Amino acid sequence: IRITWDESLAEKSGYPHFMLKEIFEQPIALESVLVGRLKDGKPQIKEVQSLEGFVKNKMKKVYVVACGTSYHAGLAAKYFMNRYSDIDFDIEVASEFRYMDPVIDSNTLVLAISQSGETIDTLEGVRLAKKKGAYVLAISNVVGSTICRESDAVLYLNTGPEIGVAATKTYTAQIALLYTLAAQLIHWKGYKDEELDDIMRTIEKMPELFRMILDKTNGHMMELVKKYKNFKDMMYIGRIFGFPAALEGALKLKEISYINAIAYQAGELKHGPIALLDDNFPVFAIVPSGKLREKMISNIMEVKARSARVIALTPIDDQQTKKICDDYIDVPTVSEPLIPLVVAPITQLFAYYTAVQKGLDPDKPRNLAKSVTVE
Ligand code: G6P
Repeated sequence: IRITWDESLAEKSGYPHFMLKEIFEQPIALESVLVGRLKDGKPQIKEVQSLEGFVKNKMKKVYVVACGTSYHAGLAAKYFMNRYSDIDFDIEVASEFRYMDPVIDSNTLVLAISQSGETIDTLEGVRLAKKKGAYVLAISNVVGSTICRESDAVLYLNTGPEIGVAATKTYTAQIALLYTLAAQLIHWKGYKDEELDDIMRTIEKMPELFRMILDKTNGHMMELVKKYKNFKDMMYIGRIFGFPAALEGALKLKEISYINAIAYQAGELKHGPIALLDDNFPVFAIVPSGKLREKMISNIMEVKARSARVIALTPIDDQQTKKICDDYIDVPTVSEPLIPLVVAPITQLFAYYTAVQKGLDPDKPRNLAKSVTVE
């Protein structure tokens, strides 16, 4: 295995934990993953140029196989592809994919997303996809890892090593790269969309936006956590792009603080989860600025009616939502597809400070490993 990063990157550089260091490295990680791949809103990923013919003439379907946080990044990419094209896009967690007889053939592009490149379920998914004749593109952070070696092509995240067990900078780098790849496939398939071009230009500005978010929310999260760290349960709700953001926020919290954090599509509340809510069950609501905003506000009202506290992640200019919530966290006002990106550093910091204030080590959560090489 060839190590492509500087040793000093594997030290804490003055941060108390790797997790906090890696949360703050996100602006640089986003720069590294996008450099040479997105310019003036145009995707130009050199590693996939040889795929142009396959995509234009043969590809009928994209299928993501991944686990954990990598799966959440893949889910955001699914909504992205659906919004800007009719390209068939399927996604399954690798531990299910490998046993479920997935519908794939030689016209399928399989994206195997794995930070470590060693997750056994994802690796077995790659082997199954190849057996069925699919073209497999790996998306990973570790050069020369097994999944990368066994795939037909590889896109590296280039974020430098991630030591904290809970994925942070690699998650947001995965989303930025997957959106850029999706834009490339969408262009090749002949779809055009002005909103998409705008989004891609905003993604280029993400490093700057992340600097601002981290700067503005770090102190706020430290304070907010004091109020919520002793709850045993928490719920995260979102819709469409807010859903992977909710899943990832809840996963971070349960991984390192051991709070029973669960995520739902907000519209599903009424089909069961709402029965759980009372004043001991705070709810994080991810509020978009677009057409789903009104829907989310009614979901917040439903939650409030059960006496549950609501912490809203709201667009900065949404005064109306701020008024009806117990607490709010300002999020830059962005188009819906960018929600999983801009919300991530905030939910990561919330999870980080919860663990630290509970006296837990966020870098070494119990029962978890950075790379899961056994079934
Ligand atoms: C482990 C880690 C998770 C990670 C998942 C997938 O369970 O604890 O944080 O998301 O594996 O890892 P991968 O390296 O395949 O992205």
